[in-house]
Amino acid sequence: MTQPAASAPAGAPTETPDARTPDARTLAAFEAAKGFMPVDEGLALYAAAADAAAALRLPLLEVGTYCGRSTILLAAAARAAGTVAVTVDHHRGSEEQQPGWEYHDPEVVDPEVGRMDTLPTFRRTLHAAGLEDHVIAVVGRSPQVAGVWGKQVGLVFIDGGHTDEHASADYEGWAPHLAPGGLLVIHDVFPDPADGGQAPYRVYRRALTSGAFTEVSATGSLRVLRRTESAASG
Ligand SMILES: C[S@@+](CC[C@H](N)C(=O)[O-])C[C@H]1O[C@@H](n2cnc3c(N)ncnc32)[C@H](O)[C@@H]1O
Repeated sequence: MTQPAASAPAGAPTETPDARTPDARTLAAFEAAKGFMPVDEGLALYAAAADAAAALRLPLLEVGTYCGRSTILLAAAARAAGTVAVTVDHHRGSEEQQPGWEYHDPEVVDPEVGRMDTLPTFRRTLHAAGLEDHVIAVVGRSPQVAGVWGKQVGLVFIDGGHTDEHASADYEGWAPHLAPGGLLVIHDVFPDPADGGQAPYRVYRRALTSGAFTEVSATGSLRVLRRTESAASG
């Protein structure tokens, strides 16, 4: 009896996965998750995470979990490289997510406490994506967590509070933990004030002018910088 050919015929679509692109399940979970990141920025985040994880095999650190939309991508990239994603959030929401503000979602209010609580939605998101084993979720304030953190990380993704106070504290707290060659990724960078708040843009400028980082890519409002020098929080 003739066996079917083991390899695809010439011209057939290849099934070789691209290491810098999320698999179909991960991408579908990202698109289904609550959150604010558009797909093009998500793909750029995944590519950066895949690069950093493969090169350094160190944890990938996120500030600003919310409901896990971007965490899915970091977790999938970490899984592929045999490392882990760490995501930090107090889960009470940023200023612009509070009741009465533009990005408020009443579905993530804890009715008993009367405050936002995105942790249950985050956990459901991660479970649906099949990525629970590849994430360490830290519930806390970013500067406090950074202050007790004792390990180098391969990537820092800053997407927490968008005031100058919070964005600066995220940079100052986490940039020193970024390994040489690691990637600093900043979301919501808007050079034109007409497009959005300026705090992440100021952190991006500060990182570049410190001389410790060089720019790798820009996709929408997502900026990827590589740490090239040791003095990382200038
Ligand atoms: C813009 S959302 C994150 C969105 C998420 N990365 C995504 O792609 O869906 C910002 C999150 O940062 C959290 N946050 C704001 N300030 C924080 C702080 N100082 N420490 C920890 N979490 C903070 C908020 O609770 C909120 O969930």
